[in-house]
Amino acid sequence: MGDLATERSNPTGRAPILVASNRGPVSFTLEDDGSLTLRRGGGGLVSGLSAIDDPSSVWVCAALGDADRAATRRSPDGRLDLGGFEVGGQAVRMLDIDPGTFGRAYNGIANSSLWFVHHLLYDTPVSPLFDDRFRREWESYGVYNSAFAQALAAEAAPGAAVLVQDYHLSLVPTQLRAFRPDLRIGHFSHTPWAPPEYYRMLPDDVAEAVLTGILGADRAAFLTLRWALAFADCCEAVLGATVDRDALTVTCAGRTTRLGVHGLGADADFLRSRSHQPDVDARLATLREAVGHSADGAPRRTVVRVDRTELSKNIVRGLLAYRHLLRTRPEWQDRVVHVAFAYPSRHDLPEYREYTAAVRRVAQEIDDEFRTATWQPLILHVNDDFPRSLAAYRLADVALVNPIRDGMNLVAKEVPVVSDAGCALVLSREAGAYAELADDAITVNPYDIVATAEALHQGLTMPADERADRTKRLAAASTALPPRQWFLDQLHALG
Ligand code: G6P
Repeated sequence: MGDLATERSNPTGRAPILVASNRGPVSFTLEDDGSLTLRRGGGGLVSGLSAIDDPSSVWVCAALGDADRAATRRSPDGRLDLGGFEVGGQAVRMLDIDPGTFGRAYNGIANSSLWFVHHLLYDTPVSPLFDDRFRREWESYGVYNSAFAQALAAEAAPGAAVLVQDYHLSLVPTQLRAFRPDLRIGHFSHTPWAPPEYYRMLPDDVAEAVLTGILGADRAAFLTLRWALAFADCCEAVLGATVDRDALTVTCAGRTTRLGVHGLGADADFLRSRSHQPDVDARLATLREAVGHSADGAPRRTVVRVDRTELSKNIVRGLLAYRHLLRTRPEWQDRVVHVAFAYPSRHDLPEYREYTAAVRRVAQEIDDEFRTATWQPLILHVNDDFPRSLAAYRLADVALVNPIRDGMNLVAKEVPVVSDAGCALVLSREAGAYAELADDAITVNPYDIVATAEALHQGLTMPADERADRTKRLAAASTALPPRQWFLDQLHALG
């Protein structure tokens, strides 16, 4: 990019709307013949941004692997050649950040420190350890954030709106404002926010920098009021900021940042049509056959979960709760199957590899304890297959969503929309989705295995008409703020 002083006095970028996130809307795979295959990512942000059909808007993201890096090298001006591939109309600028810097920022700070803090994942007698290695990672996090800030500063038209996403980019708002005070900057956290006592585990200067980084935005937005208030609590405790909890503002060092709440909903139109495509029908037939019928000839019931293999999703306790159900209510043996899809995630981190191994181990123990010649108590898949996940949503009698802590949890919102015959939702009170779905879900404390087993029983025995009624209300609440509206609301709120 050009000289920053020039950029500041005379911005040359043309984009009126910009989005920045670590993971972009597309990714590449390198084929054996050296060609690159492009894949479109899913998620609310991609659907949300499709509300903007202005071709001069730009999405800035990081190259995540070698194939992405190769693609960026083939795009000398930094904008990817999407070859007519529809991402929502806008250009994608992928940043080729030095792999060492990227790895320390993404794995070291974003995923091992900030993610762990916000999801309360530390095993505190032994971790975290903020040592010299952490300091190197923290330095890289600053460099990685400023690569984003510089690219955004170069691309943005005068007075443009910039929507910065998530904990990877918490320093960007302040860095960008220093380059380009004319911009309207929003930051959105897709995670929960830690309570102050937990947040203050971070070294003091780091805790301060993350908060002041986000406060560089005009608006800092969250998925629920609970996370917005937790952020405000941390600003008060760590920075001595003044918080107005009614007006939802944080004032620090003479600047006021507005807080916002936008509870991202499920994309009903997309889900309903996608879940009735032939590939989903085929997988549904296969799943039905694997679930099978009990000795009395009745189709077996299903408890379904679909997650990334993510520590915060609490998959192991979910399996232990299912085992407790089979042990304490043996009448369910041969009459229920747990369908658990846990697709791979963040396997560069040892904690995630160990967690995946623990999921497999407990699943094997359940199989060893209960399997019969005609009944497979648990169907576990640890690879990704989106149409198969939709088939499981359609089939579910009970959906188990029991995270330790979760920004929102879209699975909880998607299952009621897709479910064929109505589905009981067992939902952790620590999921952001709980704020909107509590009335018709069966609530659980995610640490309580006995209570979770009881909730599964309650879900499995819920009368069909009650289940269908609740599912209708859950689906309505889940789709109240579809991704496009969610995105537009944030844009309008920036002014
Ligand atoms: C969460 C975060 C996203 C992230 C996603 C997948 O939803 O809020 O920012 O992209 O997890 O994680 P990954 O590390 O694979 O991008």
